[in-house]
Amino acid sequence: MTKPKKLLSVLKGEKQHIPPVWLMRQAGRYLPEYRALRAEKGGFLELVYDSAAAAEITLQPLRRFGFDGSILFSDILIVPYALGQDLWFEAGEGPRLAPPLAEAALDALTPRLERLDPIYETVRRVKAALPSETTFLGFAGSPWTVATYMVAGQGSKDHALARRLAYRDPKRFGAIIEAIIDLSVEYLAGQIEAGVEAVQLFDSWAGSLAPLEFDKWVIEPNSAIVDRLRQRCPDIPIIGFPKGAGGRLAAYAEGTGVDAIGLDETIDPHWANAVLPENLPVQGNLDPLALIAGGEALERAVSNIRSAFGGRPHIFNLGHGILPDTPIDHVETLLTLVRKEHS
Ligand code: CP3
Repeated sequence: MTKPKKLLSVLKGEKQHIPPVWLMRQAGRYLPEYRALRAEKGGFLELVYDSAAAAEITLQPLRRFGFDGSILFSDILIVPYALGQDLWFEAGEGPRLAPPLAEAALDALTPRLERLDPIYETVRRVKAALPSETTFLGFAGSPWTVATYMVAGQGSKDHALARRLAYRDPKRFGAIIEAIIDLSVEYLAGQIEAGVEAVQLFDSWAGSLAPLEFDKWVIEPNSAIVDRLRQRCPDIPIIGFPKGAGGRLAAYAEGTGVDAIGLDETIDPHWANAVLPENLPVQGNLDPLALIAGGEALERAVSNIRSAFGGRPHIFNLGHGILPDTPIDHVETLLTLVRKEHS
C-alpha cells in the first residue's frame, strides 16, 4: 500500500500537526557507513559518478533515521563541471574549478553535458528503491553561489572576486549567470523526469551581497529559474534557500515566487513567521551546532522553532548542512523531539 508523502503535502501548502523532517547533507561524513564506502571508492567525486554507490549513499540516512525526505547525493558543482570546467577536490581543502573565470573567458569552455547523465541514473535507482512515504528531492546550486566558485576557481570567504567582477563588468558576469540559469533549468527538468518530486535551489552565499546586487544576482536569477522550470514542470514544488538573506527574506520570497523558503539558523523564526507571506511553507532552521551540543540547548532550540511555525506549513530542517562531528545519537534525539506532541 502506498502511504501519503507528508513532506510533499507541506510543500503544496498543507499544515501538519507534526512537521516532516529531513536534514541538509543528511548523507555524509557523520555516518560511518558513508565513510566506509567513500574509502572504498577513493573519494567524493568517485562516489557521485558511481550511480550505484551514489544511490546507496542517498538511501543510507533513511534506513537509519526514517527521514520524511531524501535528497539526491551529488553536488552543486556538477553544473560548472558540465559547463566544461575541470573539477576536483583537494584533500582537507575543498573544491577546485579550472580555469577560473576570473582569468578565462566563458567562451573558452566546451560544455560536456554528458557529465549530467550519471546523476540522472542515480535518481532512477533511488526512485526505484525509495519507501512510498518518502519525498525525493533534487537540487541545483543557485546561479550566484555557483558563480562564486566558477569565478574564483575555489571557495572563498567573502566571494570578493565574483563581487568585483559583478560590479566592474556586469555584462560579462551576467553572461556567466545566464549560462548557469540555462543549464540549471535543463538539469532540474532532467532530475524531475528521472523521478525527483521537488527541488531545492541552494543560494548558500546569498548573504555576501549588498542590497542592489542581491536583487540582481539572487532574486532575478532564482526567479528566472522558477519561471522557466514551472513552464516545463508545473506541479513540482521549488524550495528556495537564500542563506544569509537576513532582512531581504520576504523580498526574496515575493520576488522569486518559490513554493517554500529555507531559513538559515541566524533567522529568528518568530520574526520570519511575522514577515513572510501567510501560509508560505517554511523549512528550517536549527543551528547545526545546537545539534552537536545536544541536551537542553537542543530541546530549547527545537521547541522555539516548532512554536514559531505551528501555524503554517513547516518542514523541520537545519539552518545549514549537518557537520561531520555530529553525534549520531543526537540525530536520533532530534527526530524524537520533532515527532513528539508540542503544545
Ligand atoms: O544535502 C545533501 O546531502 C545533498 C548533497 C549535497 C552535497 N553538497 C554533498 C557534499 C548538496 C546539496 C551540496 C551543496 C553544496 N556543495 C553547497 C551549497 C550548500 C552548502 O551545504 O553549503 C556548496 C557550497 C557545495 C560545494 C562543496 N561541496 C564544498 C565547498 C565542499 C567541500 C566542503 C565539505 O563540506 O567537505 C563539497 C563537498 C561535499 N558535497 C561533501 C558532501 C557530502 C563532502 C564530501 C566528502 O568529503 O566526503
